[in-house]
Amino acid sequence: MKVSITVNETSYERDVEPRTLLSDFIRDEIGLTGTNIGCDTSQCGACTVHVNGSAVKSCTVLAAQADGSEVTTIEGLARNGELHPMQLAFTEKHGLQCGFCTPGMIMTAVKLVESNPEMTEYEIRHGLEGNLCRCTGYHNIVKAVQEGAEKLEAHSPFELTRSEHQISLRDAERKAWQRGSS
Ligand code: FES
Ligand code: FES
Repeated sequence: MKVSITVNETSYERDVEPRTLLSDFIRDEIGLTGTNIGCDTSQCGACTVHVNGSAVKSCTVLAAQADGSEVTTIEGLARNGELHPMQLAFTEKHGLQCGFCTPGMIMTAVKLVESNPEMTEYEIRHGLEGNLCRCTGYHNIVKAVQEGAEKLEAHSPFELTRSEHQISLRDAERKAWQRGSS
C-alpha cells in the first residue's frame, strides 16, 4: 500500500506492507537511523519520535496509520547546524553513556518541557517513565532535562519546526476555546 509521510519537513511516498511499523519506515525506508529500536514491544521508548506534535513510540504505530502525518525525528531537531537546546543540555550534563536510549529520551523530554517548562524533579522522572536507560541511573538525565527546560525558555520558538509551530498554535487555540466554553 502507498503511504505519504512527512518526516523532518520532507515528504516521503513509499509502497509498504500493511504491517510495516512507523519505526521501520523511518529506519529502513528513508534511512534515518537515529531512531533506535530497543524492544519493538512499546516498553523501552528508544523509538520515540514526534507525530503531529506529540511524542509517540514509533514501534507502536503502523506506517499506514501515520499516512498523511508530520513526523519529527532526532535528526530533525537541530537547526542550521546548531543542536537543539535539549540536545545541548544532554551533552553538557552528561545525560548519556552508551547513547542508545538518548534519541528517544530527548524526543520525550522536548515534549515534556514544552507542556510544562517548570516541571519538578518528580514530574520529570514520572514523565520519563516510558523511556528506559540501562546505563545512567537517570540522575544526569533528569539534570539534563531541567537544563534543557531553561535553555528552551531562552530559545523559544527555536525548537519548533514550521509544522509543529502550526500544531502548537492550533493547540493553544483549542485550549483557549475549551476554557471559553467551560
Ligand atoms: Fe519502541 Fe522499544 S522499540 S518502545
Ligand atoms: Fe545507555 Fe541510556 S545511555 S541506555
